Amino acid sequence: MNKFASALCALGLGVALVASVQAATDNDKIIERIKPVGEVCMEGDDSCGGAAAAATASAGGGRSGEEVYNASCAACHGTGVAGAPKFGTSDWTARAEKGMDTLLDHAINGINAMPPRGTCASCSDDEIKAAIEHMVNSAG
Ligand code: HEC
Repeated sequence: MNKFASALCALGLGVALVASVQAATDNDKIIERIKPVGEVCMEGDDSCGGAAAAATASAGGGRSGEEVYNASCAACHGTGVAGAPKFGTSDWTARAEKGMDTLLDHAINGINAMPPRGTCASCSDDEIKAAIEHMVNSAG
């Protein structure tokens, strides 16, 4: 191979490389263009931006019991829907006798008409616990 040929060869390789990089970039652009506009994601799903951010936020420090209660528990516990122990009543005195471990276990896993985590999939165990304490403390 003479000098000219090898230079041409190197040039050719260079062009091929540039071309394939270019092709990859084009593919990315196409993928970007054809991907669905909205992505379905479940609350608490790490793969989705917003919920992941919310989960991270709740992992660091967390929401107060009152905040979690107002956002996720009040709908049922505020009025006593389907036999839910009602906020601010002696309903919680009887429940409290079961002990926090049992209440927390039932709140996390659900019991009868009480849905797991009170439907707050993004709530950490600590946040659920804080919400229960908020309700237990309301007993009067
Ligand atoms: C869809 C309605 C609903 C929502 C929302 C809900 N609860 Fe409940 N919860 C109930 C019902 C109904 C019961 C009574 C279950 C039973 O003892 O039969 C209950 C019972 C409980 C108990 C008592 C469990 C026991 O062992 O006595 C705790 C603790 C509790 N809920 C916590 C929570 C927390 C914390 C939230 C919010 C994060 C929440 N709940 C949201 C309906 C709800």
